Amino acid sequence: MINTEDWQFKFLLREIKKSSKIDVEMYKENFLRRRIGIKMRDRGIESYYEYAKLIKDDEAELNSLLNTLTINVTEFMRDKMPFECFKDLLLPQIIEKKEKSGSRLIRIWSAGCAYGEEPYSIAICALEFLKDRDEKYTFSIYGTDIDKNCLKNAEIGIYPKKSLKNLSKWQVINYFYEIDGSYRIKDEVKRVVKFRYHDLTNEETFSKFFDVIFCRNVVIYFSEEQKRRALRNFYDSLLNGGFLITGRSESMLPSFLGKLKAINTTEKVYQKFPFRA
Ligand SMILES: C[S@@+](CC[C@H](N)C(=O)[O-])C[C@H]1O[C@@H](n2cnc3c(N)ncnc32)[C@H](O)[C@@H]1O
Repeated sequence: MINTEDWQFKFLLREIKKSSKIDVEMYKENFLRRRIGIKMRDRGIESYYEYAKLIKDDEAELNSLLNTLTINVTEFMRDKMPFECFKDLLLPQIIEKKEKSGSRLIRIWSAGCAYGEEPYSIAICALEFLKDRDEKYTFSIYGTDIDKNCLKNAEIGIYPKKSLKNLSKWQVINYFYEIDGSYRIKDEVKRVVKFRYHDLTNEETFSKFFDVIFCRNVVIYFSEEQKRRALRNFYDSLLNGGFLITGRSESMLPSFLGKLKAINTTEKVYQKFPFRA
């Protein structure tokens, strides 16, 4: 016989489907329970039935839930080009500016980092960039996410072979140890990345100033208001002239176009205006 909690859970999934037209039942039940549980705890709600009533009347909450239900699909150097753009186009400009200011610290934020593949990819690019240079620069890379389980795994840094498919053989050998068919990121890469919990739909800024922010494939299901909040957060967290890289299929809100100027429309790279520090 189906128990009350299971019945309420099924009821909630039907409500989500009715309100959003997204069939969330395609996701694994454990995954759904974990994600929905996070949202319920945030709102101080204890039953699936109560939460179903809330999302029926509160569109922002529904959008926020849908966002957290987007699977944590990611891989090293996902889409490749944004990382090449970061290494070949952005880093030389950043270094040139640092030379003038005398600063030796480069800060990067990977917002919505899932299991850590994105911030570790950024770290690999940074190490490769520095390899043939004499200058001593320090990279500080932050990976943040709303999913604590992702963050825990990101800190451990062990990955299946398939998530490394965009890396060259050389990169795999140089930056990973192979252990029983899985790949552990080396300490050299790990050392430059810190993981933190952070919710982009929250008002709170991250209280650091960044040279580059990556936020790719995260805000797709955000409501316009939530997206505005995230963009405001990014804008406030960037140094003047700092760069924001979004997902290829994502669009910039028109109200930010004067403040975050598109410098690469294919890879969706924006620069904070004014460009000078
Ligand atoms: C599809 S993954 C993207 C990972 C990586 N950025 C990439 O492009 O490969 C989306 C990630 O965003 C996270 N996320 C969703 N809502 C968030 C929020 N409000 N604040 C921070 N992270 C969030 C999810 O937990 C998930 O790990």
